[in-house]
Amino acid sequence: MQAHDASPLSDYIEYSSEEMLKRSADFYNNIKRRHSIRSFSDRPVAKAVIENCIKAAGTAPSGANHQPWHFVAINDLDVKKQIREQAEIHESNFYQGRAGEEWLDALKPLGTDANKPYLEHAPWLIAIFSEKKGGISAEEKNTNYYVHESVGIATGFLINALHSSGLVTLTHTPKPMSFLSKVCGRDDNSRPYMLLIAGYPSDDATVPHHATTKKSIDDIATFL
Ligand SMILES: Cc1cc2nc3c(=O)[nH]c(=O)nc-3n(C[C@H](O)[C@H](O)[C@H](O)COP(=O)(O)O)c2cc1C
Repeated sequence: MQAHDASPLSDYIEYSSEEMLKRSADFYNNIKRRHSIRSFSDRPVAKAVIENCIKAAGTAPSGANHQPWHFVAINDLDVKKQIREQAEIHESNFYQGRAGEEWLDALKPLGTDANKPYLEHAPWLIAIFSEKKGGISAEEKNTNYYVHESVGIATGFLINALHSSGLVTLTHTPKPMSFLSKVCGRDDNSRPYMLLIAGYPSDDATVPHHATTKKSIDDIATFL
């Protein structure tokens, strides 16, 4: 390593082998209860909860620690209505053929269509933006590195934080998503990455069987 400013690692916690095994199993058992939900209750969720989850997302690793993300948390009904209206226009075109037959066939078992009532009903929409230029402080406009990878990891942290807080989520990617920049007042430096819907599930929320089929460890991992 080259000389650089650093301080001793002071917040690492070492667990015994037994505790480590238990914690890894507990984490798996908790995260496997996360499901994409498409039917939300309109029960309110405190802003402080969403703030904590976004703070958790902001701790994610990123290229050169430039943190090339911005989260717009939307609770305002008028803004949610605008997003629903725009998303449903784009999704209508998508489901009426722009997606192509293969994509529509892949989506069939999930039962999704162009109607997105949850964009209005759920208490929180979190629009995630990636930032083309930035730096270690918010004012900088230098090159950002590994933007897509970094924002993907931060989004994963955010989904995990929301799930761990007791909320359900949906990752929604209306195509195209450019309308989100305008609705959320973001400039040219911001590119919409994903829309996350967060809240309580409705009483009649369901999970598509197709979504519960997860590949086995042998299918997804190789140990050498
Ligand atoms: C990048 C990405 C985009 C997605 N876009 C949508 C979407 O636009 N609409 C939707 O209903 N679900 C969307 N999903 C959710 C997937 O359909 C869901 O993750 C998958 O069926 C597995 O279900 P699970 O999340 O419950 O494990 C998206 C997921 C990802 C990761």
